[in-house]
Amino acid sequence: MAEPKPYSAIELADIHTPLLYNYWYVAALGSEITRDLKERTILNCSLVMYRDEDGNPVILQNRCAHRSFPLDKSNLEEGGIRCRYHGIKYNHNGEITDVPCQDSCPRTGIKKYITKEIGPVVWVWMGEDENPDIDEIPELPVHDMNKWTHVVGNYNHLKGSYILMQENLCDLSHLPFLHADTFKFPREYTAAPIKVERDEYRVTFYREMHDWSLLKPFFHPGLDFGNQKVIYRSGGEFVTPATNKGYGLLYPVDENGSEQAPIGHYVSHYVTPESDNTCHYFWYVARNYALDDEEYSKKQGDMVQRGFEEDLVAINLLQDMLEKDQHDYKEIGIKADKPGVMMRKIIKGLADS
Ligand code: FES
Ligand SMILES: [Fe+2]
Repeated sequence: MAEPKPYSAIELADIHTPLLYNYWYVAALGSEITRDLKERTILNCSLVMYRDEDGNPVILQNRCAHRSFPLDKSNLEEGGIRCRYHGIKYNHNGEITDVPCQDSCPRTGIKKYITKEIGPVVWVWMGEDENPDIDEIPELPVHDMNKWTHVVGNYNHLKGSYILMQENLCDLSHLPFLHADTFKFPREYTAAPIKVERDEYRVTFYREMHDWSLLKPFFHPGLDFGNQKVIYRSGGEFVTPATNKGYGLLYPVDENGSEQAPIGHYVSHYVTPESDNTCHYFWYVARNYALDDEEYSKKQGDMVQRGFEEDLVAINLLQDMLEKDQHDYKEIGIKADKPGVMMRKIIKGLADS
């Protein structure tokens, strides 16, 4: 009889875990989709993206149904794309509307993907269901657009599995080290215990510090609470395999010991597998203070982008190591891994089901 499985990497998703198709993924920033044809591979499917004449995003299979010519290398005309190889035309629904060398059109066209543009991003449904539930698109921390200032990051390409990126986003312990030069979190940050909760498909986690002045470099220089007690909470949530939310919030405490409404940032993270070992990454920050300080928005955007580029480099190094170093090896665990380990268990469970 087989030995029972130990609690080990076998139960955790890793770079070999099959990709998950039945989810909404962010395909692109809205600003990336224009009247120029653009290719993006998502979950090993080559897609072509553009906007129709009314400005709606359109995402179609990028492979001509005839001889597989890439449609992003073809021509966008009024009403759709005309393949540059033999001239077959597809409308915005992927149906064939013209075959130049014959009168009739084959009924088999190309796949049209369901999309939804929300705030700064465009979502795509990659699953089999032809009527996916729009309500399953994870709610973004967009908040009230009038009360929060948003800084939208660049598109980022990662040479690493999305599992490595999701684990990075669930990991609070790397901030003072990998991001020592950008976010400037103090070493004291790593000593604060991490509180973790999990429900069936989500993991929430945070830690708190009571001397927020150590975090000052991460906030607007004008922020000042005088002698008031302020609690800093930093954490996040693994929401779906495609999404993670982070936050860094300051809670001023009044003289009765009650916490007041927080001031700070939420970060929306979107991780979209390109292939088994590469992914796309999008982010944006929302803050509820220094709302009109455009110079600070630029500085904040640059700092966060630089920080995330440090993650991209690290993940590329991890992926390289995992691929080239093939001897028998088992990673150790540390306490701070808990949110990431829970996330990997959830994804493994989803992949196995
Ligand atoms: S390959 Fe596109 S029309 Fe022939
Ligand atoms: Fe990071």
